[in-house]
Amino acid sequence: MRMVDLIENKKRGQALTNEEIDWMISGYVQGDIPDYQMSAMLMAICFQGMTEEETVHLTIAMRDSGDKVDLSAIPGIKVDKHSTGGVGDKTTLIVAPIVAACGGRVAKMSGRGLGHTGGTIDKLESIPGFQTALNRDEFFRVVKTAGLAVIGQTGNMVPADKKLYALRDVTATVDCIPLIASSIMSKKLAAGSDAILLDVKTGSGAFMKTPEQAEKLAELMVKIGHMAGRRTEAVITNMDIPLGHAVGNALEVREAIQVLRGEGPADLGEVCRTLASRMLVLGGCAEEENAREKVETAVQSGAALRALASMVREQGGDSSVITEPERLKIAPVAHELRSEQTGYLAHMDTEGIGLSSMLLGAGRSKKEDSLDYGAGIVLMKKTGEYVKEGEVLATLYTSDENKIPAACTRFLESLTYAPEELPPATLIYRLVK
Ligand code: URA
Repeated sequence: MRMVDLIENKKRGQALTNEEIDWMISGYVQGDIPDYQMSAMLMAICFQGMTEEETVHLTIAMRDSGDKVDLSAIPGIKVDKHSTGGVGDKTTLIVAPIVAACGGRVAKMSGRGLGHTGGTIDKLESIPGFQTALNRDEFFRVVKTAGLAVIGQTGNMVPADKKLYALRDVTATVDCIPLIASSIMSKKLAAGSDAILLDVKTGSGAFMKTPEQAEKLAELMVKIGHMAGRRTEAVITNMDIPLGHAVGNALEVREAIQVLRGEGPADLGEVCRTLASRMLVLGGCAEEENAREKVETAVQSGAALRALASMVREQGGDSSVITEPERLKIAPVAHELRSEQTGYLAHMDTEGIGLSSMLLGAGRSKKEDSLDYGAGIVLMKKTGEYVKEGEVLATLYTSDENKIPAACTRFLESLTYAPEELPPATLIYRLVK
């Protein structure tokens, strides 16, 4: 086979065969196919698309390009969750303990934040002592003891995605539905859980800018999951507004604890209760009719908060922060950002809010950047609210006050005001089964 012929065929809109896909992925991972040819192929895929069959096969070839986790030594149905990424998205910190408290098992591998989006591993590392690099035996021990564990991706898992994602990032080929679906699902399948719940975000802070695009991605990923023999569902949720009030690592851990105490912002609580209910149904821990009630009981009884404390302790972290979240270190410079206008907040460009938080030190612009774990933003006003000139919109936290002016500018640029009240936005669009 010659890569140039495969590129030519894809350029003309032909489907790649399973053999061609296998040959291309293994050749690329081994270094036999150069980046310039793979770049041309990726761009051809962006323009010509892929059939469902091609996308499923690409996913399987990517999954099989490296190590896979066998979770069968952990009793029970293992349920995973994946968010396509957003701003203020601390749902894993809330949902995984709820599921564990209801008898589910969550053995989760998570990522770090990059650009405007946050990552669960960074949030957890804001807890003093918390270890995210566990070996297999330790990982399994924590899941068996606490019901849940969250670690960073280990070993040589899905090397095809590592190489392809890095290439897509610099060749403007990220926003292509078959490439996103195969990238996400290859990692989820390699991570070994029996059931997978996908939280597909849509809006200005998400990859998928419209609910229609999100729906296409969700349907494709659910189909891939089913064809690979996994129980899979997707919930399409709003990321046209940051989730909750807190953006930034330690600030988000604090807010997650509030929700697990039955407090915290209503939007975050509602999304988490929906995700947790679906995970319980997928994991066989609840029926459709009683899942929500089980979630409520896990929160109200304190069992979910105890599950989080147990995971933190078992992963080497200081679990006293779960009962005393004020012990989590927040950055010392606190700047109150005030509105320069009066009116209704009509829209918050959520990517802009995420970038503002990144500028404060809460995120990375490059993989190698170090984080200021206590940096970030606490929103006082969100889309739909009435604001008077001079009122506080948000408090910005950082350890370096020189970062405040650029972060304020980015934040204010992200806001649109309107003279009239607008209808409330949809929080949860659809469940895809
Ligand atoms: N997240 C991924 O893991 N891959 C993509 O392609 C996009 C988002």
